[in-house]
Amino acid sequence: MLEFKNISFKYDEDPDFIIKNLSFTVNKGEFISIVGPSGCGKSTVFRLICKLERPFEGDIFLKNRNINALKKGYIGYMPQNDLLIPWRTILQNSSLPLEIKGEDLKKARYEAEKILKAFGLEKYKNKYPKDLSGGMRQRVSFTRTLLTGADMLLLDEPFSALDAITRLSMQEWLLDKWSNLNKTVLFITHDVEEALFLSTKIFITDGSPIRKFKEIKVDLSYPRTRGMLDSPDMLEIKGELISELKKGVRL
Ligand SMILES: Nc1ncnc2c1ncn2[C@@H]1O[C@H](COP(=O)(O)OP(=O)(O)O)[C@@H](O)[C@H]1O
Ligand SMILES: [Mg+2]
Repeated sequence: MLEFKNISFKYDEDPDFIIKNLSFTVNKGEFISIVGPSGCGKSTVFRLICKLERPFEGDIFLKNRNINALKKGYIGYMPQNDLLIPWRTILQNSSLPLEIKGEDLKKARYEAEKILKAFGLEKYKNKYPKDLSGGMRQRVSFTRTLLTGADMLLLDEPFSALDAITRLSMQEWLLDKWSNLNKTVLFITHDVEEALFLSTKIFITDGSPIRKFKEIKVDLSYPRTRGMLDSPDMLEIKGELISELKKGVRL
């Protein structure tokens, strides 16, 4: 589905590379979490996939095509902060990607309404983002990401601003959607439990520059329960993840 081939990147303002000769592959249908210390360049990986930044070296392929040759809408990107537009209703926020693609307004609203209904958000459609709780806003933001129509979704710490309980129910909600929608997901988090609960595989990096991801397979079936995380295998992986993360922490 996605391939990074020898990607190096630095921001113009910075002297040092934050991504150096990085290669990795994501297979169709996977749910992969990227875990790493704050500031190491995880969001930058997403910005490269979206062509918001260009690599200094290397190529990125989506379904075996160089992303440079792809047109708008090839990827669904949910950035770190919920970027719902305050003066648009929930329905108007949701339909935005279709409108941007040049879809007929009526059709765009119709498609957005359908997905809001499917996600149990229909009753909020004429409300504004300020009227919704954090969890609800993230759900709307997710519908917007889905309406790009892309097969691959990039979710950048979507639940990090939510309270603990809402966060747990959002994780379950997301897994349910993922298993029904046949999408490939790349998910950034710094929460080890969240990564274990959600993912087929975890990519972990211990700091800057990112040279490679250590890949950890999470050998649990779906649907998942929290209890599955207490098995000896999972506790071992959890310990490993935490010690990898600690290596990257600079106090
Ligand atoms: N648009 C930008 N311009 C310049 N530097 C940036 C930009 N975005 C991020 N950085 C820098 O690049 C580094 C990695 O950032 P980021 O990818 O956001 O890390 P992470 O998501 O892992 O916390 C940070 O040191 C950050 O300050
Ligand atoms: Mg980030």
